Amino acid sequence: MKVMSPFILVIFGATGDLAQHKLLPALYSLYKEKQLGDTFYIVGFARRPLTDQEYSHMLGDELEVHKEEEWADFAKNIYYQQGNFDESDGYEALIKKLNGFDQKLGACILRLFYLATPPDHYENILKHLKETKLSEGCGPAFVKATAGEEVIARGKWTRLAIEKPFGKDLDTARELDKRLCEIFEEQQIYRVDHYLAKETVQNMIAFRFANSIFEPVWNAEHIDNVQITFAEKKGIGRRGKFFDGVGTLRDVAQNHLLQLLAAVAMEQPKSFTRESIRDARANAIKAIRKILPTDVSHFIMRGQYKGYLEEKDVDPHSQTDTYVAMKLFVDTDRFSGVPFYLRAGKAMEKDLVEIKIIFKQTCHLLFKEYGCPEIGNVLTIHIQPNEGIGMRVIAKTPGQTLSLSTVEMKFSYAEEFKNRKIDAYEKLLLDIITGDQMLFNRSDELDSSWELISGILKGWSLSDNFVGTYDVGASGPEEAKLLLEKDGKMWLD
Ligand code: BG6
Repeated sequence: MKVMSPFILVIFGATGDLAQHKLLPALYSLYKEKQLGDTFYIVGFARRPLTDQEYSHMLGDELEVHKEEEWADFAKNIYYQQGNFDESDGYEALIKKLNGFDQKLGACILRLFYLATPPDHYENILKHLKETKLSEGCGPAFVKATAGEEVIARGKWTRLAIEKPFGKDLDTARELDKRLCEIFEEQQIYRVDHYLAKETVQNMIAFRFANSIFEPVWNAEHIDNVQITFAEKKGIGRRGKFFDGVGTLRDVAQNHLLQLLAAVAMEQPKSFTRESIRDARANAIKAIRKILPTDVSHFIMRGQYKGYLEEKDVDPHSQTDTYVAMKLFVDTDRFSGVPFYLRAGKAMEKDLVEIKIIFKQTCHLLFKEYGCPEIGNVLTIHIQPNEGIGMRVIAKTPGQTLSLSTVEMKFSYAEEFKNRKIDAYEKLLLDIITGDQMLFNRSDELDSSWELISGILKGWSLSDNFVGTYDVGASGPEEAKLLLEKDGKMWLD
């Protein structure tokens, strides 16, 4: 989808990791693909004193693209505004800058505000956006028009994108949401979870519902368990200050992991429209059984990689989880009694995000006397890397005698689709600019996920049930295996 109208994108936290390593590369890539339209302004807002040129040079160096011809053209659209998030001066100067763009074009340009700062700045930024009326933009008053069941936002030409973590627990997430809704209409708010925009995650709906062969077996009668792995090879790097106060449960489980679970567990959306898709996701997350704080140790394991306490900006006595494994249930007719095992960790053996659907294995009468593989059909959705889908099936091992083994049938995105894959942040930015909220969180889905996560945090605060440490490069703490072993199952690698 190509952008047709001019826009201004203000990035708060412009010198941070997210802006430099995700947002700007995505914008540059969209620019090179000629998807950003003819007129746009990118304004970085941060504390460091920099000129427009210094900021764009810094980005060019960081992305190692300053020698590219296209970069020079792209960089002409980059501006910088120095400001402290808690002082009005920077915002006042920002207003002048944005008004200047409007005057130059002789039009009221759509303004997008992207909060890419650490979350403790959100309150200040929101306060100043409201007080300075930046939040109101220059468009006409807000009007709602309905088309079928969809509500279309018109006027008030501003939108706000806000990154995760959205709060620290249920109460703070609710407070933040309340604050957002006091300032913006729901149709202007884009709560980001970039996993929703990954091609492989978006494909889940097509895969499940466009292929008629999967839906009949996508239920408790046929599925034994579901395993979702989110492993990252890197440790926390330079993110100690942020990560130590957050931990893996809040950083990736509350959002990315639960969204992957929702993609497996959701019911068929009523239609392929924004609210139907969001309803289906929200209902799946709502259906996850809550865990009583006193039961947390039966369902959740946490750990920390060795050497974490020596990382920069980490409390030397920290009990922050760099690994978490969870056993969850989704209380719907479809998945009644099927355990969902989820795990996420830093400093793991390899980078791997995948979903495994393990089907029930019944050894058919024909083969009883010859023996069947212990685990039979497994559907693997490779979210990253090596994006694709694999199906493990049982086959006869070639030879004189009858013996069964398992083989893998594979589909690879890279081999099948030669056109360029759109990165998650490119997709999200295009959606924010063009006004499509389908792949953004709604309040109710965040509320249900935080309800679950807050119960777990409460459980952790009640007892010192911190589980073991694990070696860098291992597959997590040994104890995490117990979660499955006590159910007579094991993690499938
Ligand atoms: C972010 C987390 O949301 O997702 C990071 O804050 C994590 O800790 C990252 O590394 C993983 O994203 P991706 O797209 O690289 O898998």
